[in-house]
Amino acid sequence: MIDVGERFETTTVHIGHAPLRQAESKSTPIYQTSVFAFDSLEEVEKYYAGEGEYLYTRNGNPNQAELAFAVARLEQAEAGVSAASGMGAIMAGLLSILSPGDHVLASHEIYGGTYALLQKELSRFGIELECIVLDEGIHLASRVRPTTKLFFLETITNPLLTVVDLPSWIRQAKELGLFVMVDNTFATPYLVQPITFGADLVVHSGTKYIGGHSDVTCGVLVGSRPLIERATEIVVNYGASLSPFEAWLAARGLKTLAVRMERQCDNAREVARFLQSHPAVSRVYYPSQEATSFFARPKQGAMVSFALRDESEIYEFYRALDWIQFVPSLAGVETSVSHPVTTSHRAFSEEQRQATGITMGLVRISVGIEAIDDILSELGRALGK
Ligand SMILES: Cc1ncc(COP(=O)(O)O)c(C=O)c1O
Repeated sequence: MIDVGERFETTTVHIGHAPLRQAESKSTPIYQTSVFAFDSLEEVEKYYAGEGEYLYTRNGNPNQAELAFAVARLEQAEAGVSAASGMGAIMAGLLSILSPGDHVLASHEIYGGTYALLQKELSRFGIELECIVLDEGIHLASRVRPTTKLFFLETITNPLLTVVDLPSWIRQAKELGLFVMVDNTFATPYLVQPITFGADLVVHSGTKYIGGHSDVTCGVLVGSRPLIERATEIVVNYGASLSPFEAWLAARGLKTLAVRMERQCDNAREVARFLQSHPAVSRVYYPSQEATSFFARPKQGAMVSFALRDESEIYEFYRALDWIQFVPSLAGVETSVSHPVTTSHRAFSEEQRQATGITMGLVRISVGIEAIDDILSELGRALGK
């Protein structure tokens, strides 16, 4: 314990400062510091020679490293880097691969933020995006150009929860010499590890299942060491580093990923079954067992979407919900609902809505860990009204 200074002003600043306490804490401490102290100039030299770990939190911090290491390990990747949001991690992944003049092929069902990043921002740097429908009849070879560098897709899409044959699409892309980046946010490494199918980079909005408690915004990117080293430079240079507290929260949440996913997936299966036979529902979107046969476990994810038979009832449905909250996010331990047309997909024209099925009557449910009977009775009550 440092005890400095005779004068009140100096003592209040320095008293009790004990960064080197030797007690071994059971949980990882939060390194809530913007910078790290050095004993000598030689120590700084060692840092720059690659022998020291931490200098300044934007460049690296033990809490960021803990989260990145954990997700990399769970995804069976060599290395990982955390970022201030899922979008920060996606940006770092894209820029670790792409240069001006490059062309990106992406599934037409990618998250709107990813689409905006590529279409609105990276296009200004000469990076071109082309979205394609990943139907069985389509071959990537027919869409590849000499400048195509990257193929980007999601394991389970939002909000229609489409699951394509990931191993086969990755194989095709690799045969064409493309880099492959997979957004595994909805599936999590509990269900699928795209690296094992040959993906170069896997990204997560850690805001969702990785954190799992709707109390943190963060992202994690994992992949081969050289790509992650470059992506880390991008995170640092663009200022997209994750705060230590957010990293700590996400790492804490991650500890229960397996039990949360197990329960949430089981509950989601019951919710899908219930909705499929409900007279107020015209269509249920929930991945089939066949589509998810390449998953590491016999689960189909924890999200269920459905269309109301009578679209005009949609306002009443949301009003009628009591403890299931309407939130434009997902993956917390609490069951919640969102409304894609008025939130994530509000930029869609009526034509796009009809073409994609993302219509006014579409409801997306993020199924939580509560007792399934309570979830079903709450949904049934709201649908009944
Ligand atoms: C599939 C997917 N990827 C990426 C993101 C972006 O993550 P964040 O909001 O943490 O930046 C989201 C956000 O909803 C998402 O759903």
